[in-house]
Amino acid sequence: MCSIIGYSGQLTLAAPLLVESLKKMEYRGYDSVGIATLNKGNILVSKGVGKVAEVDQQLHLNELPGEIGIGHTRWATHGGVTDKNAHPHYSCSANIAVVHNGIIENYQELKVELENDGHIFKSQTDSEVIAHLLELNYEKSNFNVRETMTRTFERIRGSFAFVAVFSNGTIAGARYDEPLIIGISSDALFLSSDVLGFLKHTDQAIFLDNGDIVIVENKQYTIFDNQQTIVNRPVTQVAWELGSSEKGKFAHYTIKEIHEQSETMLKPFVTSNNFELFCKYLNDASNIYITGSGTSYNSGLLGKLLLSKFAKKKSEVYMSSEFQYFSDTVEPLSVVIAISQSGETADVLHSVKRAKEKGAKILSIVNIPTSSLARMSDCYISLDCGPEIGVAATKSFLNQLMILYNIVCILSNNNIKFDSKERKKLQAMIQTVLNLDNKIKTLINSLHHDLKDIYILGRSIHYPIALEGSLKIKELAYIHAEGIAAGELKHGPLALIDKESVVIVLNPNDETYQDVVSSTNEIKSRGAFIIGISDLHNDLYDIFIELPKTDSYLYPLIEIIPLQIMSYYLAIQKQLDPDYPRNLAKSVTVK
Ligand code: F6R
Repeated sequence: MCSIIGYSGQLTLAAPLLVESLKKMEYRGYDSVGIATLNKGNILVSKGVGKVAEVDQQLHLNELPGEIGIGHTRWATHGGVTDKNAHPHYSCSANIAVVHNGIIENYQELKVELENDGHIFKSQTDSEVIAHLLELNYEKSNFNVRETMTRTFERIRGSFAFVAVFSNGTIAGARYDEPLIIGISSDALFLSSDVLGFLKHTDQAIFLDNGDIVIVENKQYTIFDNQQTIVNRPVTQVAWELGSSEKGKFAHYTIKEIHEQSETMLKPFVTSNNFELFCKYLNDASNIYITGSGTSYNSGLLGKLLLSKFAKKKSEVYMSSEFQYFSDTVEPLSVVIAISQSGETADVLHSVKRAKEKGAKILSIVNIPTSSLARMSDCYISLDCGPEIGVAATKSFLNQLMILYNIVCILSNNNIKFDSKERKKLQAMIQTVLNLDNKIKTLINSLHHDLKDIYILGRSIHYPIALEGSLKIKELAYIHAEGIAAGELKHGPLALIDKESVVIVLNPNDETYQDVVSSTNEIKSRGAFIIGISDLHNDLYDIFIELPKTDSYLYPLIEIIPLQIMSYYLAIQKQLDPDYPRNLAKSVTVK
C-alpha cells in the first residue's frame, strides 16, 4: 500500500514531476516519502517522515537535479516510520536505488544471505533486499539490466511492484500481485502504481501483467513476460476525468466527496453499464456469494438483505479476508459479486482468484474500470463516482448501494421502484439531507469534546448502515464506535450503556420502528444521550435529525448521509485531518 513512480523524459526535471505525482497518489500511503534522481551519473536520494508537502518543504525534494528518477510514498509494513525506512533504498555502491510496494515474504532469508555476502543494510524494511539483490545480480550479469531484473525477480517471493533506477540511466520495474502501469507520452515514460501518477501528462497506459518486467532506456520501453520473452501489451486510453481531483470550495476532500453525492449517485445510470448481463449471470447461478472489505463489505451486507427480501434470492456475504475459509462450496455454477472502490484490495483479489480457480464467474462492482478486479471479472458495473481521494469511503459507498438497488429492482421484476423517476426523487431527498450540514455541525459542537464511545442502533436494512456509520466514526474521529443490531442489545451490549454513552438510533417509520423504540427506551432509562435519525419525531430523542419521507426500503440510502457528516465534524472538532486518518491507506494492497 505504497505508491511508486518512475520517470524518464524531457518534460521537466524529474524531481518536481515526481513530487507532483506522489501528491496525487498519496492516498495509497502517507507516513513517509522520498525520491531518487540521476544526476551526472550519480544517484541522489532525499527522503523523510511526513506527508509529501511537509517533507518537500523541509528537504526541498523538488530541487534535486536530474532528468530521470523514482519516487515513493510509504505505508509502513516492515520497520517503523523513520527516515531510514523511507524509500528509496540504495544498494551498497549507490549505483542502484529502488522503491517498492508490497511485501517480500522471504526477505529475512535473503537478508542473511546478502549480509553473509558483505552487503550492509541501513533500514529494517523488507524492501531493501531488492536493492542489494539487484546490485549482486548486476555485478554477476556483467551489468546487464535485463538479466539483473530477471534473476532478482526469480529470487523474491510475495506480492510486489518495484521500480529501480540504475546509474547508467536505465529505469526498470517488475510486478507480481501489485499494480504497475506504464504511462506513455511522446516526451516521457512513467512507471506508476496508479494512472493518477502520470495522468496530467498522458492518458496512454499499459497495465502490466503479473510477472512482467519492464525496462526503460534510450526513450524506449521493453516488456518481458515471466518466460523472459519480449511481449507487446495493449495500450489503453484512460479517462482524463480520473485525474480531476481538486477540493474546490471545501476544506477537505472528505466533505467535498460527501457533498458531491447528490450528483455522483446517478452516474452509474448515465453510461451504459452492464446491468442486464450482470443480472443474467445472477439468474443463471447455482449460488451467489458476495464479498468485499470494510465499507464495501457493509454494502454487500445490505445487498444480501435486499436480494433476499425483494428478489427472493439467497446469497452468502463474506468479508474478503475471511472468504477463503468459506470457499469450499464454490463451484463452477457459482457467482461471486466482488465489491470494491479501488479494485486493488489484496483481500478481494485473493478471494476472486480462489473463486476463479474453482470455476466461478466473477461479477464486480468497482470504481476503477482499469483496476485488477475489473480486469479479472466476467462482467463489471462501474461506480462512476469519479476519484475518491479521502481515505474514508463515502460517495463510493452510496454508489455501491445505488447499483445494488438497481440489480435487485431488475431481478425482482420491479418489486422495488427504482426507475429513473424514483432515482431523481431520491436525489432530491439526498440533497435535502446534505443541506443539514450546518445543523449537524452545530450538533457535534454541542456534544462534549471527549467522547469515548458512540453506539449506532439499527435493525434489518438499517443494521449495515449502523456498521458503516460506526466505521466512519472510528476511522475519521478515532472514537470507539459500534454498530449494533438493535435486537441484540439485551444479549450483552446493554451492559456498556451508562450516562456517558451517546447512542444514535436509525429509526425510520417502517416495520422495525416499534422494536427500535423499545430498545431506545431501554437505553434512555440507563441515562444515555440519544440522537434519533428518522422521518418521525419521538420524545425519546435528545436530538432529532429529520429525514424526508419516502418508501421504507430506500431509507438506508438516505440515513447514511448524516452519519458521514457527523463523522467528518467529529474529526474536525478534534482537529484531525479527515482526509488522511492515521495508520490507514486508501488502497489496501497487502493481505
Ligand atoms: C472505509 C474504507 C475501507 C475500504 C476497504 C475496501 O472508509 O475506505 O474500509 O472500504 O479498504 O476498499 P475497496 O473498496 O477499495 O476494496
